Amino acid sequence: VKETTFYHHDVLSMLDFRREDLELLFNYTEEMHKYTNTKLSLLLGKVVSLAFFEPSTRTRLSFEVAAKRLGADVISITGEESLSISKGESLADTIRMLDTYSDLIVIRHRYEGAARYAAEIAEHPVINAGDGKQHHPTQAMIDLYTIKKLFGTIDGLSYGVLGDLRYGRASTSFIYGLTLFKPKKLYLISPESLRVREEVLQVLKERGIVFEEKRSLGEVIGELDVLYVIRIQKERIPDPMEYEKVRGSYKVTLDLLKYAKKELKILHPLPKVDEIDERIDNTPYAAYFIQAKYGVSVRMALLALVLGAEP
Ligand code: NCD
Repeated sequence: VKETTFYHHDVLSMLDFRREDLELLFNYTEEMHKYTNTKLSLLLGKVVSLAFFEPSTRTRLSFEVAAKRLGADVISITGEESLSISKGESLADTIRMLDTYSDLIVIRHRYEGAARYAAEIAEHPVINAGDGKQHHPTQAMIDLYTIKKLFGTIDGLSYGVLGDLRYGRASTSFIYGLTLFKPKKLYLISPESLRVREEVLQVLKERGIVFEEKRSLGEVIGELDVLYVIRIQKERIPDPMEYEKVRGSYKVTLDLLKYAKKELKILHPLPKVDEIDERIDNTPYAAYFIQAKYGVSVRMALLALVLGAEP
């Protein structure tokens, strides 16, 4: 464990990892699956801090369950209002405090680069659970693991990523994650104003990924093996008028799925708003609830690797 890329390292961006790292993580996750109903003592005596300055349900709860299943104790702060931060305490001081109380810090913050900043201050490892529109690496690890479980491979498949690719950090990290593998083709599907950012396109070009930007799902649905959908990130769109313009501009419907491959799987980091017809939830296409379930085992594996515990 101590020889791995994870041991005592920060988890800030998918761009910091290699394919071998993820394969190791997935093998560990396989082990952890066996223990998702047990309490282990791998991290007994360790304290994990959850510092969620932005709303979260799944991510915070699954980190908490993962840490507790491994025997760690968890301390957490949520929201800014109830905290000393509202008295003017700086993020740096809050991080210093958490760093003295715990062995690892999981942070989510609306500011881009917040996790990297925290990692510079903290001596203990920091895991980025979302920084503004930028990164959400642990979500991408779960997404890729889910695909591996469903298809037996991540290579050679055709992918569509649909939605707010401009402000979506989960979609951005997923796209970065795909560049570690060999996708057959990647379609980036979004309304014009929510196109993927230039810096992301740059990474795709540098890494030789075959991709194409599209405006509508209908054009490519028949080719896809995996469709990754993300909601409009309303809270990050600076102008309410801009939001009104794109609201409801994309939706996966039962009608569209008539043209899809039978094996198509739809992923979504959740929360869903209105971008997938609810009737799809009960079809074999929907993989988003399994994906959410895998969140606990993947995060168990990650915590164990970062803190150096052998399963
Ligand atoms: C994502 C996020 O917070 O970026 N949610 C999550 O962690 N599952 C996606 C989103 O909020 O749309």
